[in-house]
Amino acid sequence: MLYKLAHILRDKMRWLWDFIEMMNSVLFSWKYGKKVKDFVFSYIPEGYKLLPIKDISTEKLVEFFDRQPEDAFTYFKPHGFDDKSIKRLQRNKAFLAYVLMDKSNEQITGYCFNRSFFHGTGFRGRMVDVSYRNKGLGTAMNKILNDLGFGIGLRLYESVSKDNVASYKSAISASQIKILKEMPNNEILLEILP
Ligand SMILES: CC(C)(COP(=O)(O)OP(=O)(O)OC[C@H]1O[C@@H](n2cnc3c(N)ncnc32)[C@H](O)[C@@H]1OP(=O)(O)O)[C@@H](O)C(=O)NCCC(=O)NCCS
Repeated sequence: MLYKLAHILRDKMRWLWDFIEMMNSVLFSWKYGKKVKDFVFSYIPEGYKLLPIKDISTEKLVEFFDRQPEDAFTYFKPHGFDDKSIKRLQRNKAFLAYVLMDKSNEQITGYCFNRSFFHGTGFRGRMVDVSYRNKGLGTAMNKILNDLGFGIGLRLYESVSKDNVASYKSAISASQIKILKEMPNNEILLEILP
């Protein structure tokens, strides 16, 4: 219900979505800000570092999305990927987003987020750079998102298309899941279990 409403607001009533997003950021920060700040990640893949998107230049983030092939976005449409949209996400304290950076070349190799809500829920999403796929980074980022989300006390959800095999497999590999709902276009809503 909340998931559907969020999509309607985002797509059809942008001004209201922006206002709610701003209020959510304030309330989330008030309720969870300290927990997020003090959180220490227990798992980061070797050879990579994990950085919050607020510590990365907007230009570098936009470049990361720009260099991904068009088909990488078939099932991944969580937000805009232009400079303005990314800047807004970097300011949003409820959008817990991180990049995995390859230590050897300082290149962004993966992007992941828990889009969180002040009443205690988070929706996971992730993208792995096309030249770093199938090396376990997608699964690793799911573990990172679980680690943080459950660590600060959120309930976690994810919508995934059954046609997006790598995404579905990595969701399952990293977590116990419960299928909550079958949705149109072969999508399913999962609750991620701690
Ligand atoms: C989904 C995505 C993040 C997976 O990242 P990844 O680093 O390649 O995934 P992993 O290496 O962790 O592999 C996860 C599982 O998928 C399998 N897999 C990876 N690529 C695959 C492919 N092209 N076809 C079938 N299976 C694949 C792996 O073998 C692994 O299976 P296992 O757990 O049974 O061993 C990546 O494909 C991606 O960025 N896609 C575009 C964006 C997207 O769709 N995001 C998800 C929506 S939120």
